[in-house]
Amino acid sequence: ERSLLGLRELSQTEIVQLLNRTAYWDNQAVKLTPVLESKFVSNMFFENSTRTRFSFEMAEKRLGAQVLNFTAAASSVEKGESIYDTVRTLESMGIDVGVIRLKPAGVLQQLAEKVSIPLINAGDGNNEHPTQALLDMYTMSKAFGELKGLKVSIIGDIMHSRVARSNLWGLTKMGAQVQFCAPENMKAPELMPYAPYVSIEEALKADVVMMLRVQLERHAVGMLQSAEEYRRQYGLTEERAAKLGAGTIIMHPAPVNRNVEIDDVVVESSKSRIFPQMANGVPVRMAVIERAVL
Ligand code: CP
Repeated sequence: ERSLLGLRELSQTEIVQLLNRTAYWDNQAVKLTPVLESKFVSNMFFENSTRTRFSFEMAEKRLGAQVLNFTAAASSVEKGESIYDTVRTLESMGIDVGVIRLKPAGVLQQLAEKVSIPLINAGDGNNEHPTQALLDMYTMSKAFGELKGLKVSIIGDIMHSRVARSNLWGLTKMGAQVQFCAPENMKAPELMPYAPYVSIEEALKADVVMMLRVQLERHAVGMLQSAEEYRRQYGLTEERAAKLGAGTIIMHPAPVNRNVEIDDVVVESSKSRIFPQMANGVPVRMAVIERAVL
């Protein structure tokens, strides 16, 4: 039984094993495989989600697991019950693994130390989103064959992005070269030793251009210039997308602020892998759940 709290703590070998197992599940024609049929999985989302929550549920159901969906708004959290007491409650009822998304960064690590079931990080604050980075890496490996030597630009709200952090740790372990591009007030100072910040012009000269959502809900009032100004300076506009290299692919973890960080028409352009990323979320999460429970 193994938790997955982040990619920072995984070895290259463990990442390769997960990506290989993802490819295995991706290539299965049958949708239902009862390998986890006697297992109970709880999806505990203390922060909203569409892709992560439903692709975990899809993955769990494809593996034949029994799925319990917990939503904070419909629970005793509304009466003031803590995250710890909630997880302990589900653990005492007999769940085999917990998938968990939390707003505050760092709480997940403390929680994992106190409970005995494996926990899977479905996004913790701005710290890590390991299954997102795994599906991103899988999407890149499908496009390019291997990750080693790829140049990946991550553009936008790095400071608030758990996706940027997990991709940084995962991709660099796999031998890819990561660079960031962000407005001054969206840079993450603690990441400076690990990846350079480059201009938008330089960032577009890459194999992968990964745009990030401007996380309006995490911004202090007045931190963001107008959406139009952000688009002009850092957005992947139709004009910028037209100048990308022939082999460059465009990624975005979504949800997308269309016409802010990426133009509407670019989202569904031939270079975009945004919807394939979502599809790849299912086999990635099958591999992660299987690793946690078996
Ligand atoms: N990419 C991602 O984590 O999306 P959700 O917030 O909808 O799960």
